Amino acid sequence: MIKKGIILAGGMGTRMSPLTKAVNKQLLPIYDKPLIFYPLSILLLAKIKDILIIVNKGQLDQYKKIIPNGNNLGVNISYLEQESPKGLPDAFILGKDFIGKDNVALILGDNFFYGQNLSKMLLNCSKLNEGAKVILHKVPNPELFGVAKINNLKKITSIKEKPKKFISDFAITGLYFFDNKVVKYAKQLRPSKRGELEITDLLKKYLSTSKLKAEQLGRGGAWLDTGSIEDFYKTSLFVSAIENRQGFKIACIEEIAYLNKWIGKKEMLKAIKFYGNCEYSNYLRKLIS
Ligand code: TTP
Repeated sequence: MIKKGIILAGGMGTRMSPLTKAVNKQLLPIYDKPLIFYPLSILLLAKIKDILIIVNKGQLDQYKKIIPNGNNLGVNISYLEQESPKGLPDAFILGKDFIGKDNVALILGDNFFYGQNLSKMLLNCSKLNEGAKVILHKVPNPELFGVAKINNLKKITSIKEKPKKFISDFAITGLYFFDNKVVKYAKQLRPSKRGELEITDLLKKYLSTSKLKAEQLGRGGAWLDTGSIEDFYKTSLFVSAIENRQGFKIACIEEIAYLNKWIGKKEMLKAIKFYGNCEYSNYLRKLIS
Protein backbone atom coordinates (compact mmCIF):
# COMPACT_ATOMS: atom_id res chain seq x y z
CA MET A 1 0.00 0.00 0.00
CA ILE A 2 1.06 3.56 -0.66
CA LYS A 3 0.60 5.53 2.55
CA LYS A 4 2.65 8.64 1.86
CA GLY A 5 2.63 11.21 -0.90
CA ILE A 6 5.03 13.98 -1.88
CA ILE A 7 4.21 17.06 -3.96
CA LEU A 8 7.27 18.64 -5.48
CA ALA A 9 6.28 22.28 -5.60
CA GLY A 10 9.55 24.16 -5.85
CA GLY A 11 11.37 24.95 -9.07
CA MET A 12 12.36 28.25 -10.61
CA GLY A 13 9.50 28.51 -13.10
CA THR A 14 11.96 30.16 -15.51
CA ARG A 15 9.73 29.61 -18.51
CA MET A 16 6.96 31.61 -16.86
CA SER A 17 8.98 34.62 -15.80
CA PRO A 18 8.10 37.44 -15.01
CA LEU A 19 4.95 35.82 -13.51
CA THR A 20 7.13 33.64 -11.30
CA LYS A 21 9.56 36.30 -10.08
CA ALA A 22 7.66 37.06 -6.87
CA VAL A 23 5.20 34.14 -6.68
CA ASN A 24 5.92 30.43 -7.04
CA LYS A 25 4.31 28.81 -10.10
CA GLN A 26 2.22 26.42 -8.00
CA LEU A 27 0.48 29.35 -6.30
CA LEU A 28 -0.60 30.95 -9.58
CA PRO A 29 -4.20 30.36 -10.69
CA ILE A 30 -5.45 27.62 -12.94
CA TYR A 31 -8.86 29.19 -13.59
CA ASP A 32 -10.48 29.48 -10.12
CA LYS A 33 -7.92 27.98 -7.73
CA PRO A 34 -4.17 27.83 -7.19
CA LEU A 35 -2.31 25.24 -9.26
CA ILE A 36 -1.20 23.35 -6.11
CA PHE A 37 -4.85 22.29 -5.47
CA TYR A 38 -4.75 20.07 -8.56
CA PRO A 39 -1.83 17.76 -7.62
CA LEU A 40 -3.04 17.79 -4.01
CA SER A 41 -6.47 16.61 -5.14
CA ILE A 42 -4.82 13.69 -6.98
CA LEU A 43 -3.20 12.45 -3.77
CA LEU A 44 -6.51 12.86 -1.91
CA LEU A 45 -8.32 10.87 -4.60
CA ALA A 46 -5.69 8.14 -4.18
CA LYS A 47 -6.73 8.18 -0.47
CA ILE A 48 -3.25 9.19 0.65
CA LYS A 49 -3.56 10.97 4.00
CA ASP A 50 0.05 11.70 4.85
CA ILE A 51 1.41 14.37 2.54
CA LEU A 52 4.70 16.24 2.28
CA ILE A 53 4.90 19.40 0.18
CA ILE A 54 8.42 20.39 -0.87
CA VAL A 55 8.77 24.10 -1.62
CA ASN A 56 11.59 26.49 -2.45
CA LYS A 57 13.65 27.93 0.35
CA GLY A 58 11.98 31.12 1.60
CA GLN A 59 8.52 30.35 0.16
CA LEU A 60 7.04 28.36 3.04
CA ASP A 61 4.94 31.20 4.45
CA GLN A 62 3.22 31.80 1.12
CA TYR A 63 2.13 28.16 0.98
CA LYS A 64 1.02 27.96 4.59
CA LYS A 65 -1.38 30.84 4.01
CA ILE A 66 -3.40 28.73 1.61
CA ILE A 67 -2.72 25.18 2.88
CA PRO A 68 -1.82 25.34 6.58
CA ASN A 69 -1.47 21.75 7.87
CA GLY A 70 -4.19 19.53 6.49
CA ASN A 71 -6.49 19.69 9.55
CA ASN A 72 -9.07 21.37 7.32
CA LEU A 73 -9.01 18.28 5.09
CA GLY A 74 -8.70 15.59 7.75
CA VAL A 75 -5.20 14.71 6.55
CA ASN A 76 -1.67 15.40 7.68
CA ILE A 77 0.29 17.91 5.59
CA SER A 78 3.89 18.81 6.36
CA TYR A 79 6.42 20.94 4.52
CA LEU A 80 10.12 20.90 3.71
CA GLU A 81 12.22 23.48 1.93
CA GLN A 82 14.50 22.59 -0.96
CA GLU A 83 17.70 24.65 -1.08
CA SER A 84 17.76 24.69 -4.91
CA PRO A 85 16.17 22.60 -7.70
CA LYS A 86 18.48 19.59 -7.59
CA GLY A 87 16.18 17.35 -9.59
CA LEU A 88 13.05 15.29 -9.02
CA PRO A 89 14.71 12.35 -7.15
CA ASP A 90 15.91 14.86 -4.54
CA ALA A 91 12.35 14.56 -3.17
CA PHE A 92 13.23 11.14 -1.75
CA ILE A 93 16.53 12.26 -0.25
CA LEU A 94 14.94 15.31 1.39
CA GLY A 95 11.86 13.30 2.34
CA LYS A 96 13.56 10.20 3.74
CA ASP A 97 12.44 10.78 7.36
CA PHE A 98 8.90 11.54 6.20
CA ILE A 99 8.84 8.34 4.10
CA GLY A 100 10.28 6.12 6.86
CA LYS A 101 9.53 2.49 6.04
CA ASP A 102 6.53 3.22 3.83
CA ASN A 103 5.90 3.20 0.09
CA VAL A 104 5.43 6.60 -1.47
CA ALA A 105 3.80 8.46 -4.36
CA LEU A 106 5.35 11.51 -6.00
CA ILE A 107 3.47 14.10 -8.01
CA LEU A 108 4.99 17.15 -9.64
CA GLY A 109 3.38 20.36 -8.49
CA ASP A 110 2.68 21.52 -12.02
CA ASN A 111 0.95 18.40 -13.35
CA PHE A 112 -2.76 18.37 -14.12
CA PHE A 113 -4.76 15.16 -14.53
CA TYR A 114 -8.41 14.73 -15.38
CA GLY A 115 -10.47 11.79 -16.56
CA GLN A 116 -13.48 9.60 -16.04
CA ASN A 117 -11.67 6.59 -14.62
CA LEU A 118 -9.04 8.59 -12.81
CA SER A 119 -10.15 7.86 -9.23
CA LYS A 120 -10.36 4.15 -9.93
CA MET A 121 -6.94 4.12 -11.54
CA LEU A 122 -5.44 6.07 -8.62
CA LEU A 123 -6.90 3.67 -6.06
CA ASN A 124 -5.48 0.80 -8.03
CA CYS A 125 -2.02 2.44 -8.10
CA SER A 126 -2.04 3.06 -4.38
CA LYS A 127 -2.28 -0.70 -3.82
CA LEU A 128 1.36 -1.01 -4.95
CA ASN A 129 3.44 -3.19 -2.65
CA GLU A 130 6.59 -3.78 -4.62
CA GLY A 131 8.45 -2.10 -7.49
CA ALA A 132 7.38 1.13 -9.14
CA LYS A 133 4.53 2.31 -11.30
CA VAL A 134 4.32 5.29 -13.64
CA ILE A 135 1.34 6.82 -15.39
CA LEU A 136 1.62 7.03 -19.15
CA HIS A 137 -0.29 9.18 -21.59
CA LYS A 138 -0.23 9.16 -25.39
CA VAL A 139 1.16 12.36 -26.89
CA PRO A 140 1.54 13.58 -30.48
CA ASN A 141 5.09 14.88 -29.85
CA PRO A 142 7.00 12.18 -27.91
CA GLU A 143 10.36 13.75 -28.78
CA LEU A 144 9.62 16.41 -26.14
CA PHE A 145 9.03 13.96 -23.26
CA GLY A 146 10.49 11.08 -21.35
CA VAL A 147 8.79 8.10 -23.01
CA ALA A 148 8.25 4.44 -22.18
CA LYS A 149 7.77 1.32 -24.28
CA ILE A 150 5.48 -1.29 -22.74
CA ASN A 151 4.62 -4.93 -23.35
CA ASN A 152 1.08 -6.28 -23.11
CA LEU A 153 1.50 -7.07 -19.42
CA LYS A 154 1.78 -3.35 -18.65
CA LYS A 155 5.46 -3.86 -17.94
CA ILE A 156 7.89 -1.25 -19.18
CA THR A 157 10.62 -2.64 -21.41
CA SER A 158 12.56 0.56 -22.12
CA ILE A 159 12.54 4.26 -21.32
CA LYS A 160 14.19 7.19 -23.03
CA GLU A 161 14.40 10.87 -22.25
CA LYS A 162 13.39 13.08 -25.24
CA PRO A 163 14.06 10.41 -27.93
CA LYS A 164 15.29 11.72 -31.30
CA LYS A 165 14.30 8.42 -32.95
CA PHE A 166 10.77 7.12 -32.34
CA ILE A 167 10.48 4.37 -29.72
CA SER A 168 7.01 5.01 -28.29
CA ASP A 169 4.45 7.79 -28.04
CA PHE A 170 3.64 7.10 -24.40
CA ALA A 171 4.93 10.01 -22.34
CA ILE A 172 5.82 9.40 -18.71
CA THR A 173 3.70 11.84 -16.72
CA GLY A 174 4.62 13.50 -13.44
CA LEU A 175 2.88 11.00 -11.17
CA TYR A 176 4.84 8.04 -9.80
CA PHE A 177 4.32 5.28 -7.22
CA PHE A 178 7.35 3.67 -5.55
CA ASP A 179 8.16 1.02 -3.01
CA ASN A 180 10.46 1.93 -0.14
CA LYS A 181 13.62 1.08 -2.13
CA VAL A 182 13.26 4.46 -3.81
CA VAL A 183 15.11 6.18 -0.97
CA LYS A 184 18.12 3.89 -1.34
CA TYR A 185 18.07 4.19 -5.15
CA ALA A 186 17.80 7.99 -5.07
CA LYS A 187 20.86 8.20 -2.83
CA GLN A 188 22.86 6.17 -5.38
CA LEU A 189 22.19 8.65 -8.22
CA ARG A 190 24.73 11.17 -9.48
CA PRO A 191 23.83 14.47 -11.20
CA SER A 192 23.49 14.41 -14.99
CA LYS A 193 25.28 16.75 -17.42
CA ARG A 194 22.75 19.45 -16.65
CA GLY A 195 23.64 19.16 -12.97
CA GLU A 196 20.38 17.55 -11.74
CA LEU A 197 19.40 14.13 -10.41
CA GLU A 198 17.23 12.65 -13.16
CA ILE A 199 13.95 10.79 -12.65
CA THR A 200 14.75 8.68 -15.74
CA ASP A 201 17.89 7.37 -14.00
CA LEU A 202 15.83 6.50 -10.94
CA LEU A 203 13.22 4.68 -13.03
CA LYS A 204 16.02 2.77 -14.78
CA LYS A 205 16.98 1.24 -11.41
CA TYR A 206 13.52 -0.37 -11.28
CA LEU A 207 13.64 -1.20 -14.99
CA SER A 208 16.90 -3.12 -14.56
CA THR A 209 15.20 -5.48 -12.09
CA SER A 210 12.00 -5.72 -14.20
CA LYS A 211 10.02 -3.97 -11.49
CA LEU A 212 8.74 -1.00 -13.49
CA LYS A 213 5.07 -1.09 -14.39
CA ALA A 214 2.76 1.28 -16.18
CA GLU A 215 -0.81 2.41 -15.97
CA GLN A 216 -2.47 4.41 -18.72
CA LEU A 217 -4.68 7.41 -18.34
CA GLY A 218 -6.55 6.29 -21.43
CA ARG A 219 -8.33 8.08 -24.25
CA GLY A 220 -10.86 9.90 -22.14
CA GLY A 221 -8.21 11.28 -19.83
CA ALA A 222 -6.35 14.56 -19.98
CA TRP A 223 -2.84 15.24 -18.76
CA LEU A 224 -1.43 18.71 -18.99
CA ASP A 225 1.99 19.77 -17.87
CA THR A 226 1.53 23.41 -16.98
CA GLY A 227 5.15 24.44 -17.48
CA SER A 228 4.76 27.26 -19.99
CA ILE A 229 2.47 30.28 -20.07
CA GLU A 230 0.64 28.83 -23.06
CA ASP A 231 0.02 25.53 -21.18
CA PHE A 232 -1.17 27.48 -18.16
CA TYR A 233 -3.86 29.26 -20.12
CA LYS A 234 -4.87 26.15 -22.04
CA THR A 235 -5.34 24.31 -18.74
CA SER A 236 -7.36 27.21 -17.32
CA LEU A 237 -9.63 27.15 -20.36
CA PHE A 238 -10.04 23.39 -20.01
CA VAL A 239 -11.04 23.67 -16.33
CA SER A 240 -13.38 26.58 -17.00
CA ALA A 241 -15.10 24.72 -19.88
CA ILE A 242 -15.69 21.59 -17.79
CA GLU A 243 -16.71 23.37 -14.59
CA ASN A 244 -19.14 25.72 -16.29
CA ARG A 245 -20.69 23.05 -18.47
CA GLN A 246 -21.08 20.41 -15.77
CA GLY A 247 -21.59 22.53 -12.68
CA PHE A 248 -19.04 20.76 -10.53
CA LYS A 249 -15.50 21.71 -9.71
CA ILE A 250 -12.27 19.95 -10.59
CA ALA A 251 -9.83 19.71 -7.65
CA CYS A 252 -12.03 21.17 -4.95
CA ILE A 253 -9.94 19.71 -2.13
CA GLU A 254 -12.62 20.12 0.56
CA GLU A 255 -15.17 18.34 -1.61
CA ILE A 256 -12.88 15.31 -2.00
CA ALA A 257 -12.16 15.22 1.75
CA TYR A 258 -15.90 15.52 2.47
CA LEU A 259 -16.81 12.72 0.06
CA ASN A 260 -14.01 10.58 1.57
CA LYS A 261 -15.70 11.26 4.94
CA TRP A 262 -12.47 12.72 6.34
CA ILE A 263 -14.28 15.94 7.24
CA GLY A 264 -17.86 16.82 8.05
CA LYS A 265 -20.15 19.85 7.92
CA LYS A 266 -18.26 21.60 10.69
CA GLU A 267 -14.99 21.70 8.72
CA MET A 268 -16.87 22.68 5.57
CA LEU A 269 -18.34 25.68 7.37
CA LYS A 270 -14.86 26.59 8.62
CA ALA A 271 -13.54 26.43 5.06
CA ILE A 272 -16.36 28.70 3.86
CA LYS A 273 -15.39 31.20 6.53
CA PHE A 274 -11.71 30.91 5.62
CA TYR A 275 -12.22 31.54 1.90
CA GLY A 276 -14.78 34.29 2.53
CA ASN A 277 -17.46 35.56 0.25
CA CYS A 278 -16.54 34.00 -3.10
CA GLU A 279 -17.77 31.60 -5.69
CA TYR A 280 -15.64 28.75 -4.25
CA SER A 281 -17.38 29.18 -0.87
CA ASN A 282 -20.79 29.20 -2.56
CA TYR A 283 -19.89 25.86 -4.13
CA LEU A 284 -18.90 24.40 -0.73
CA ARG A 285 -22.15 25.71 0.78
CA LYS A 286 -24.16 23.96 -1.93
CA LEU A 287 -22.38 20.67 -1.19
CA ILE A 288 -23.57 20.60 2.43
CA SER A 289 -27.04 22.02 1.93
P1 TTP B 1 10.61 21.71 -14.02
O1 TTP B 1 9.61 21.84 -15.11
O2 TTP B 1 11.86 20.98 -14.27
O3 TTP B 1 11.04 23.16 -13.51
P2 TTP B 1 10.20 24.47 -13.26
O4 TTP B 1 8.78 24.15 -13.00
O5 TTP B 1 10.86 25.28 -12.23
O6 TTP B 1 10.19 25.22 -14.64
P3 TTP B 1 11.31 25.93 -15.55
O7 TTP B 1 11.87 24.84 -16.40
O8 TTP B 1 10.47 26.89 -16.33
O9 TTP B 1 12.30 26.62 -14.67
O10 TTP B 1 9.93 21.06 -12.74
C1 TTP B 1 8.76 20.31 -12.72
C2 TTP B 1 8.07 20.47 -11.40
O11 TTP B 1 8.87 19.98 -10.33
C3 TTP B 1 7.75 21.90 -11.03
O12 TTP B 1 6.51 21.89 -10.39
C4 TTP B 1 8.85 22.29 -10.08
C5 TTP B 1 9.20 21.01 -9.40
N1 TTP B 1 10.63 20.85 -9.05
C6 TTP B 1 11.03 20.97 -7.74
O13 TTP B 1 10.22 21.27 -6.84
N2 TTP B 1 12.33 20.73 -7.41
C7 TTP B 1 13.26 20.38 -8.33
O14 TTP B 1 14.43 20.16 -7.96
C8 TTP B 1 12.84 20.29 -9.70
C9 TTP B 1 13.82 19.91 -10.77
C10 TTP B 1 11.53 20.51 -10.01
